[in-house]
Amino acid sequence: EGFRKDIEAYEIVTPQQLEEYRIKYLGTKGLVKNLFGEMRNVPNDRKKEFGQVLNEFKQFAEARYEQAKESSAGATSSTEEEIDLSLPGDAITIGSRHPITLVRNRMVNIFQRLGFSVADGPEIEDDWHNFTALNLPENHPARDMQDTFYIHQNPDWLLRTHTSNVQIREMQKGKLPIRIICPGRVYRNETISARSHCFFHQIEGLYIDENVSFADLKQTLYFFVQEMFGKDTKVRFRPSYFPFTEPSAEMDVSCFICGGKGCRICKHTGWVEILGCGMVHPKVLENCGIDSNKYTGYAFGMGIERPALLLYDVNDIRLFSENDARFLKQFDSAV
Ligand code: PHE
Repeated sequence: EGFRKDIEAYEIVTPQQLEEYRIKYLGTKGLVKNLFGEMRNVPNDRKKEFGQVLNEFKQFAEARYEQAKESSAGATSSTEEEIDLSLPGDAITIGSRHPITLVRNRMVNIFQRLGFSVADGPEIEDDWHNFTALNLPENHPARDMQDTFYIHQNPDWLLRTHTSNVQIREMQKGKLPIRIICPGRVYRNETISARSHCFFHQIEGLYIDENVSFADLKQTLYFFVQEMFGKDTKVRFRPSYFPFTEPSAEMDVSCFICGGKGCRICKHTGWVEILGCGMVHPKVLENCGIDSNKYTGYAFGMGIERPALLLYDVNDIRLFSENDARFLKQFDSAV
């Protein structure tokens, strides 16, 4: 009984005290072992009784050890050091979202509300998915429109020049209707300057179903623009050319910096060009195994950097990829 009291009163706070306790009571020269050693001096008729008491005591001593070990488990193994809980904690630095991510998320969100889902695809692509399937035959001059990075000079492997490769891959799956947007990084061999970079980000959209018309395209884009740049934003379509759409157009929005009055950003025209679009060329549908007599579709594609530059009043596109924390931190609370 006396020993039990000692054990109960034994102070175990630090890992060091815990170890001392173990040696004193449970170690090879500890009390428990010693007491068991005494067994041989106990008369035979009392051995059983004595054994029982000792076993219980051993369990008691061990239980105390386990319990103390548990409660000091949080303590560090460096025995001397005690933790001062009154000290202020280290500040946790939380990153901020990248401005390109912020703009992309806003764009994606608007299209998702219209029923588009997000599709993804490879950045390293073969010629067929990036060009040929999109109605750009070999040596077609339109390939010059997009200066391409080839991998190891192999004409069949390249860094995608647009996210249209994802559209091709979705169409090939053969599940219709299709209503997707494809956000992603694209690469073009262009001289790096404040206005252009050799990689940037795009969002392309594709809708294929029966009876999809140019009117659907216009209304979808008009809704997008109003949500993205404000209800007062106007749009204007100009005829254009892309090998993969027919007819094709480029869309301008009324400058959301000056409200269309004319400023430095819109070069005093009142308009800013933001995307290319059109009705998917029947040949593209057929290339992907879709019956162009039954189905029609529209497609559009826009860059993310340009609107981001305008929306956040950033004057150099290179800032987006320089990882300068002073620049990125400014978007901490940006939405
Ligand atoms: N793929 C075109 C580009 O990268 C954009 C586009 C997509 C144009 C779809 C029309 C239709 O420039």
